Amino acid sequence: MPEGWVWDETLFSGAAPYYLRGRLPYPDALHDVFQAATRLEGAPRLIDVGCGPGIVALALADLFAEVVGVDPDAAMLAEAERLAVARGVANATWVRMRAEELPAGLGPFRYATFAQSFHWMDREVVAKLIFDMLEPGGAFVHVNGVVADPPPAPAMPFPPPPDAAIQELVSSYLGLVRRAGQGHLRHGTPGDEWGVLRRAGYRPARVALVPGRRVLEASIEDIVAMVFSASGTAPHLFGDRLPAFEAELRALLQAASDHGRFSRWQGDIQLDIYERP
Ligand SMILES: C[S@@+](CC[C@H](N)C(=O)[O-])C[C@H]1O[C@@H](n2cnc3c(N)ncnc32)[C@H](O)[C@@H]1O
Repeated sequence: MPEGWVWDETLFSGAAPYYLRGRLPYPDALHDVFQAATRLEGAPRLIDVGCGPGIVALALADLFAEVVGVDPDAAMLAEAERLAVARGVANATWVRMRAEELPAGLGPFRYATFAQSFHWMDREVVAKLIFDMLEPGGAFVHVNGVVADPPPAPAMPFPPPPDAAIQELVSSYLGLVRRAGQGHLRHGTPGDEWGVLRRAGYRPARVALVPGRRVLEASIEDIVAMVFSASGTAPHLFGDRLPAFEAELRALLQAASDHGRFSRWQGDIQLDIYERP
């Protein structure tokens, strides 16, 4: 878990309604790359751990007999349910719990996906729990962003979001150290997934690249959602100063944008596929 952090159910409190709009989307190619890189014969089941609003589970649902999303945040799961209905996905179920409380009688799975979530968990515990839930030959799939510089200015028609100015405004409300849940500070994000997964018995990763590079247009509304979708700037952290913060944020974005528009850069992602022998 991030150093100095203990589990806190307020971690993403208030973020769910902003999540889909504010986060960079996963590349459309995720579905086809996942399909090509995995074995999906029979009636496989997927568990998406730390599923949030279910974006990965829903994107892959047609490849599986059943997908199960697990997350402790009730508002995230309500959003997942809403999206499943909107997209006509009928084979998804959503279970409110922490990954550390698995297996919870959920049965065997062919694949387990972790997208921007494993770092929040007690990774040694969860890696072993999932190992025992996977079919032999199944895999733990870590969905990773690949960091790449944005293209030069001509490809980005609008200014980028003013990250430094946003951070300065956030710090003036919340202090300099990044917050994670009520009353907790966060010092960095743990890395070295392979060390954790090796100890749990998985094979070394096969890597599948999901091409995603493209320039996306974002409105002021999208950037406000980006800020509120992040754990370190989730709405609950601002308490009764939330309206004042939001007003200042909007004024800052208005001043920094070109007719209220920004360009955001979406990079590639990669799937690190760690098989259970
Ligand atoms: C950054 S969001 C990622 C959501 C989704 N996987 C995605 O990629 O869009 C992280 C999610 O992990 C969940 N989470 C945090 N700690 C968790 C834990 N111990 N067990 C399960 N989920 C957890 C949070 O509630 C949040 O919904």
